[in-house]
Amino acid sequence: MIKVSPSMLACDFTKYGAEIEKITKAGAEYVHLDVMDGVFVPNISFGIPVVQAARKATDAILDVHLMITEPERYIKQFSDAGADIIVFHYEATNNHQEIIDEIHSLGKKAGMSIKPATPAFVLEPFMSSLDLVLVMSVEPGFGGQKLIPETLEKVSKVKEMRQLLGADFEIEIDGGITVDNAHLAIEAGVDVIVAGSAVFKAENPAAVIASFKE
Ligand code: DX5
Ligand code: ZN
Repeated sequence: MIKVSPSMLACDFTKYGAEIEKITKAGAEYVHLDVMDGVFVPNISFGIPVVQAARKATDAILDVHLMITEPERYIKQFSDAGADIIVFHYEATNNHQEIIDEIHSLGKKAGMSIKPATPAFVLEPFMSSLDLVLVMSVEPGFGGQKLIPETLEKVSKVKEMRQLLGADFEIEIDGGITVDNAHLAIEAGVDVIVAGSAVFKAENPAAVIASFKE
């Protein structure tokens, strides 16, 4: 069964709590929170207080995607803010295993993400200790972009590696997923779909979430 993690980046922030309630009531398993620092990516989104506010608004699983440089500086703070899954970028640090271990020592799930140009093999040394691998299907930084089709092959590659290693992380895809192309991601082997615009700009977000699960 496919899980759905709507990206709050595309929500109406004047109704943040209600937007979270809308998607979780519609069956979204995760709430995807995109943290951007204006350094690792050329955009600034939001940080710790907005994760805290989501924690107050829901008991659903908070899937926090850190697009920040040297994420090791902030793991504890995002954990304390209420993140359940903390996803950091392979490209943003040299201390991968230390970060995974810290996330686990805080009792949270650890995810690693790769940008479109980063090959799947870099993940291999960490696969046995990861809970989630996030394959970016657009350049991180902005919602509303078009999916880069080549990234789907990387999803299949990651799935193959997972099987070979006997690892059991979830595979998540993020960026440009729509009702029309979600089946391609599912065929490629994803377990979790992130979608921002497709959910929040739709007239009926609940129907979009349901269609991803069909
Ligand atoms: C992009 C973010 C995504 C983004 C997805 O850097 O990581 O989560 O918000 O938005 P859509 O679904 O609109 O591409
Ligand atoms: Zn994201």
